[in-house]
Amino acid sequence: MDKFIIKSTESLNGEVSIGGAKNAVLPLMTACIINPGTYTINNVPLLRDTLTMAKLLEMVGAKVTIKGNTFKINTKNCNTPYAPYDLVKTMRASFYVLGPFMSRFNKAQVSLPGGCAWGPRPVDFHIKALEKMGAKIELAGGYINASGQLKGADIIFDKSSVGATGNVLMAAVKAKGVTRILNAAMEPEIDCLIDFLNLMGADIKRNQDGSVIIIGVSSLNDKVEFDVIPDRIEAGTFMIAVAMCKGNVTLKNVEPKHLSIVTNKLIEAGACIDIENNQINIKMDRRPNSIDMTTSIYPGFPTDLQAQWMALMTIANGSSSVTDTIYTDRFTHIAELERLGANIHLDNNVAHINGVNQLYGAPVMSTDIRASASLVIAGLAADSKTEISRIYHIDRGYENIEQKFDQIGGSIVRKK
Ligand code: UD1
Repeated sequence: MDKFIIKSTESLNGEVSIGGAKNAVLPLMTACIINPGTYTINNVPLLRDTLTMAKLLEMVGAKVTIKGNTFKINTKNCNTPYAPYDLVKTMRASFYVLGPFMSRFNKAQVSLPGGCAWGPRPVDFHIKALEKMGAKIELAGGYINASGQLKGADIIFDKSSVGATGNVLMAAVKAKGVTRILNAAMEPEIDCLIDFLNLMGADIKRNQDGSVIIIGVSSLNDKVEFDVIPDRIEAGTFMIAVAMCKGNVTLKNVEPKHLSIVTNKLIEAGACIDIENNQINIKMDRRPNSIDMTTSIYPGFPTDLQAQWMALMTIANGSSSVTDTIYTDRFTHIAELERLGANIHLDNNVAHINGVNQLYGAPVMSTDIRASASLVIAGLAADSKTEISRIYHIDRGYENIEQKFDQIGGSIVRKK
């Protein structure tokens, strides 16, 4: 298994280009199944997860041609609405095939994803919503077997869910009648999916109150070309890295309005931030201030940057707290950050952090995508060499992370 050897970094300086959003492109790829056609998606990050999704689409009968960061997906011969456990357990986002399968084939057999590294992640909202739309659903042998012609319905989510909103959107595009999603997820990745589906010929509107109205259409376009939005989590990770290691870095190809809360928090922590069109410049020349942070749904602070923010607070001047309200068990990085000298006490879903002067290099282990990112930036800020094992997690979500850090003066070497 590969590992990263990370050298202590004085400061990060230069320019970094941010890639397309992983969490936006995964549902776009499954959306191509809805209608037989040839769909071109640009700005796709080359990641383990996007390649796993390509593999899943090919199992369904699609042909995926990859040229640089462009994926051409031909779904004319799709004929197998089946997603096996082997794939779904490695990438939960595979579950995004459920809505498209029902839309195109009126049936689906999709493995239940099971738990994940940081605790249970149920899919009950997805199932209840499809049932409300007329699907007959049976659970057997770890699989969801769904069948039936879908019709429009009012879907009211108890809690805002990115995945369930995405699945219902895709299921509803061709369902007869009108579907209304109340308490729909507001994340930019969902609006990106809405834009893609509308370009395919869907009739979807987001109301001012955030609800989404989908009027079922009977046919869709068989050719579409689309650019994926920039990855706000990759951008946020680099910004927090600069705040932690100090320096002066310009991020290119970002969407600053998707990062407002992160930018504000970093300014509170002592960073100087300048925004110009699709660029963000961040400068940091001091020890960070200790700032409390609570994750919440968009436009709140993303849970996918919680671990990285906590890494920053481990060297802040004073005490702070980090609360995760989305995934209350998402704290596997704490034990690893403590191996680097951090002082953290966890009380349910609230981590209390006493900032230390300096982290120390040590061998640590990746546990999930974002926890790994927190260890990378903590390793760069630590005073000596840090070794991170099980970095396949980071390859799921960050394209060329070692080259990108190398460009701005961070030394990360991959050892086979
Ligand atoms: C997506 C993101 C993930 C991010 C998360 C929250 C992708 C591929 N993944 O995950 O990176 O951390 O949003 O921003 O886009 N819930 C239920 N029942 C359900 C579905 C969700 O109880 O059927 C709960 C979850 O346990 C969680 C909350 O709803 O507490 C939000 O989860 P959700 O938005 O669905 O996360 P994902 O779509 O799985």
